[in-house]
Amino acid sequence: MKFFLDTANIEKIKRFADMGLVDGVTTNPSLIAKEDRDFESVIKEITQIVDGPVSAEVLSTNSEGMIQEALKLSELHENIVIKIPMTKDGIKATHVLANKGVKVNMTLIFSPAQALLAAKAGARFISPFVGRLDDISHDGMELIAVTREILDNYDFDCEIIVASIRHPLHVVEAARMGADIATIPPGVMEKLFKHPLTDIGLERFLSDWKNAFGK
Ligand code: G3P
Repeated sequence: MKFFLDTANIEKIKRFADMGLVDGVTTNPSLIAKEDRDFESVIKEITQIVDGPVSAEVLSTNSEGMIQEALKLSELHENIVIKIPMTKDGIKATHVLANKGVKVNMTLIFSPAQALLAAKAGARFISPFVGRLDDISHDGMELIAVTREILDNYDFDCEIIVASIRHPLHVVEAARMGADIATIPPGVMEKLFKHPLTDIGLERFLSDWKNAFGK
């Protein structure tokens, strides 16, 4: 399973990349806005840290505008993946861009039907949002299970990025279901490490050693 980091924060990307845990990065307009920096320069900097797909999202809502933005963003680096929202214009833009060899990550996917449309249009990645579904009392992980089943029935060249991850169990469940990628916010990545018995165990090893050998 691949881990992407769902952030545009350079320090956080570097921290986890140094541990070999980052196969790619996803950003969105909200995440870029948090960093208060020039969009293109942040994206470029991320491509210098992580040797894998880096998603940058378009802001246009019509297909022509999306395509123009996508082609411009693609020039920044060969690993740039264009994030396009799941709309009719987004589907049209995805179809055009896929035929030009541009990789698209179709975002804001909330149903299996949308996932199927995105894969059919040629999206290289699809991003079902599990946390935002949970927020409205729908089962986000069920969407991942059904999407996995659908993609496994055919030979779409399309990987599932589990997005809108809110806690470690989303990551573990995504791995159990065979999702290709989890895009993980840094805060959730921190939590993946933690287990109280690990801390207690280490403390005991060190104190037993100190008691026996005095150092
Ligand atoms: O990057 C898209 C997605 O991961 C956003 O998550 O927490 O804003 O629902 P969230």
